[in-house]
Amino acid sequence: MTQTLIDTLQARVLAAFEAVGYDAKFGGVRVSDRPDLADFQCNGLMGVAKSRKMNPMEAGAAVLAELELDGLFAAEVVKPGFLNFKATDAALVGLVAATSADPRALAPVSGARKFLVDYGGPNLAKEMHVGHLRTAIVGHGLINILKFAGHDVVSDVHLGDWGLQIGQLISQIEDVRPDLFEIEADSPITMEDLQAWYPAASAKSKEDDDFRDRARRATTAMQAGDARYMRLWRRVVDVSKASLMRDYGRLGCEFTYFYGESRYQDMLGPIVSQLEERGEAEPSEGAIVVHLKEGKKLPPLMLRNSNGGYGYGATDLATIVDRVETDDPEFILYVVDARQKMHFQQVFLAAEQTGLNGRAKLEHTAFGTVNGTDGKPFKTREGGVMRLHDLMEEMHAAARARLEDMGRVDGEALEATAEQIAISAMKFGELSHDRESNYIFDMEQFLQFEGKTGPYIQYTCVRIASLMENAKAAGLAPAAFTEVTDGARALVLTLDEFPAKLARSIETRKPSNMALHVYKLANATNSFYQSNRVLAEGIDPAVAASHLGLLAAAHKQLELGLKLLGVEIPAKM
Ligand code: ARG
Repeated sequence: MTQTLIDTLQARVLAAFEAVGYDAKFGGVRVSDRPDLADFQCNGLMGVAKSRKMNPMEAGAAVLAELELDGLFAAEVVKPGFLNFKATDAALVGLVAATSADPRALAPVSGARKFLVDYGGPNLAKEMHVGHLRTAIVGHGLINILKFAGHDVVSDVHLGDWGLQIGQLISQIEDVRPDLFEIEADSPITMEDLQAWYPAASAKSKEDDDFRDRARRATTAMQAGDARYMRLWRRVVDVSKASLMRDYGRLGCEFTYFYGESRYQDMLGPIVSQLEERGEAEPSEGAIVVHLKEGKKLPPLMLRNSNGGYGYGATDLATIVDRVETDDPEFILYVVDARQKMHFQQVFLAAEQTGLNGRAKLEHTAFGTVNGTDGKPFKTREGGVMRLHDLMEEMHAAARARLEDMGRVDGEALEATAEQIAISAMKFGELSHDRESNYIFDMEQFLQFEGKTGPYIQYTCVRIASLMENAKAAGLAPAAFTEVTDGARALVLTLDEFPAKLARSIETRKPSNMALHVYKLANATNSFYQSNRVLAEGIDPAVAASHLGLLAAAHKQLELGLKLLGVEIPAKM
């Protein structure tokens, strides 16, 4: 067997449908929603019956007569017209052997399409906050999953390092630290400085007209290449990047490109003139815009405003042009907050109608908001914006406290393990939710060792590993799984689902499908283990070895799934 049970069965059912002459569209097989009655089912008989004006039970009998199941499945037709299938013990045994022998858990290398994943999207001078967790975790999970499936993936952070926000910051520095402009080499700027300056600058901009004008002029001067400003700006970029890299490093996020919006500045003018010449962009009240042909209800995409400045939309168009030139991706996924929906609709339509997107399909892989336990957008206890770094530190401290209570890990391993648990808690907290919905960041709950949490799954892995060691010490080694006992069926059928869940994660651009699979697998593993004690008194060593064989297969798939989600497994916890 080199494929899953469900794929094997699907092929057989389709062959039988074809042999009888029934339309393949009715021959879909899926995991049964009544595991007490069947493992798999086909619900298409009613459709066949309707289209051919016949009795669904007869249609079922005709399919059964052609089905060649080779002792792998038992099949029956049940009223009012379903095909139910149960895998035989031999099939379950075969599946475990096959999946154990395959480092890919039977998932095919399905594609070699070129993807560009735009994720991260932090802004210069502003430290990341909890909102940045979603794009980081979903984006990184998607990249891992796409690569595993064989796709060619590059990624880019699209750092917000340009525009009015920088002009504001520069003007603020002029007010509070004018001396910094005189320093030739690396100015002694710290992230703490930036964190204090930026919010002050953006607040001042809202209240103080003079300051706002100065900030605008600074922005224009910087865009024209003012040397004093550029020197300081470069320093701000370096300091910010170092802090961003530290946070991304902890989350395991990697980027092919760490480009910023500034990269595209020289492209903006030429692209806009070119579009104007081709009649694809037009003047409108002093600005230059692209009217969207398909998005009748959408406002036009603003390329240049009436002051001659280029904004977010023009920069995203230029970014597409650059990406098409350098990587020529087939898909560009923008893992960005759902609140930017309209921006991306405009940019995508504009790129498509002007042909700037090349062959790329542009997709907004949108996500909802992270709320606090009060159901409102997540804040610190004091009501401010929680820095991502502080949040990670808090999670780490809580995980460490928990480990200290349990007393199984100490010394050097304590910090490293606490970090693995904290990160897994955050990642799984995210990935156990559909990215499109909002979720509540509940630190307490995310760190629990029971329930739908990262630490629970890590703990399951740690327990199996330790069981393996104890078994070894007792002279028992895993052997081929042959004993289909209580609990084994559910576990084997869960193992069988891995390739489908991987495919589903890719189709929907939702790594949560894989996360929920891993959770289900951890549950099935624990139930099996509870009802099939390996080291029980008087157990037949052959039975124990078979149990260990199945547990080893489950352990391997858990490790693979967690790896794809970017969750590390501690040695002990
Ligand atoms: N920096 C942007 C923000 O904070 C997110 C960037 C997303 N990517 C993009 N290509 N627009 O809103």
